Amino acid sequence: MDGKSGIGLASQSKGKPMSSPEIFSKDHSGRRAGWARKDLTGLQHLSREELVLLLDTAAAFKTVGTRHIKKVPALRGKTLVNFFVEPSTRTRVSFELAAERLSADVINMSASGSSLTKGETLKDTALNLQALHADVIVLRHSSAGAAQFLAERLDACVVNAGDGAHEHPTQALLDAFTIRERKGRLEGLHVAIVGDILFSRVARSDIFALTKLGAKVTLVGPSTLVPKDLERLGVQISHDLDSLLPDLDVINLLRIQHERQRKEYFPSLGEYTSFFGLTKARAARLKPDCLVMHPGPINRGVEIDSDVADSPRSVILEQVTNGLAVRMAVLYLCNAARSGESA
Ligand code: CP
Repeated sequence: MDGKSGIGLASQSKGKPMSSPEIFSKDHSGRRAGWARKDLTGLQHLSREELVLLLDTAAAFKTVGTRHIKKVPALRGKTLVNFFVEPSTRTRVSFELAAERLSADVINMSASGSSLTKGETLKDTALNLQALHADVIVLRHSSAGAAQFLAERLDACVVNAGDGAHEHPTQALLDAFTIRERKGRLEGLHVAIVGDILFSRVARSDIFALTKLGAKVTLVGPSTLVPKDLERLGVQISHDLDSLLPDLDVINLLRIQHERQRKEYFPSLGEYTSFFGLTKARAARLKPDCLVMHPGPINRGVEIDSDVADSPRSVILEQVTNGLAVRMAVLYLCNAARSGESA
């Protein structure tokens, strides 16, 4: 550890200091100043200051990916279990890579290959992982509250990689990071989140993050998927995408989550696209600098036209890249809070 940056970068930075050294300052216990959480289970209860600290820490970690040696020793000697009970491409690989860049040992587990299939409970599985000295458990689960359930029972750090229709905190952090990096701010920006809000953990976490960071958020979709009572979260509701398009700074399209819907919420996918899909004609009515975002996986031709997804204003793959830095920041801060040790 270099004792300057706190994440062991100075030795490979060829004299270039880490940005914002105060981000990495420690209190008397050795924890990162401003961060005292061993777990990240959601964004609902995070303060604006905690969100800014996460984004600033991610910005510092993003520079690691540009260096010749892309590793830092912040989690050396720690073991992370990447436990995905639901399918994932982006989040699972991103957490694995983030942990490896922080020099942690990584174990990947899926439900089908675990003793959950033999009737073991999630709690027992997690306690066994902890008995094997897992320091961090990253959990994706179909049940809302699963990560919080483990966080309250384990000494290990627990990071929510998506729990049912509840929260997907690191997705929202990478969304906020991408907007801030591209636009230089979040305050005052008009962000539309379009689609299946009712079943979307991404939408919930986005709402918590973006409103706390000063953006104006409008939820857009059919009334069956965007109920009026969501206004209580400090957002606006619209069922008319076309009227909003010229005013938007960011449009974030969501996938229709068939796996969570128990009844039909609209007549057909074609009808959905005709009202709420970001077609080429609709994209032409956006401001020239409006960002097009999507958490993935995308359904080309449904919520977003294929050409629009691949157009210069689309930052969909940039979001994925930024997810790595954001997840490094989350793992780093939670581990430091748990152990109170110098990183
Ligand atoms: N955005 C997202 O969570 O993608 P994955 O399901 O592939 O992880």
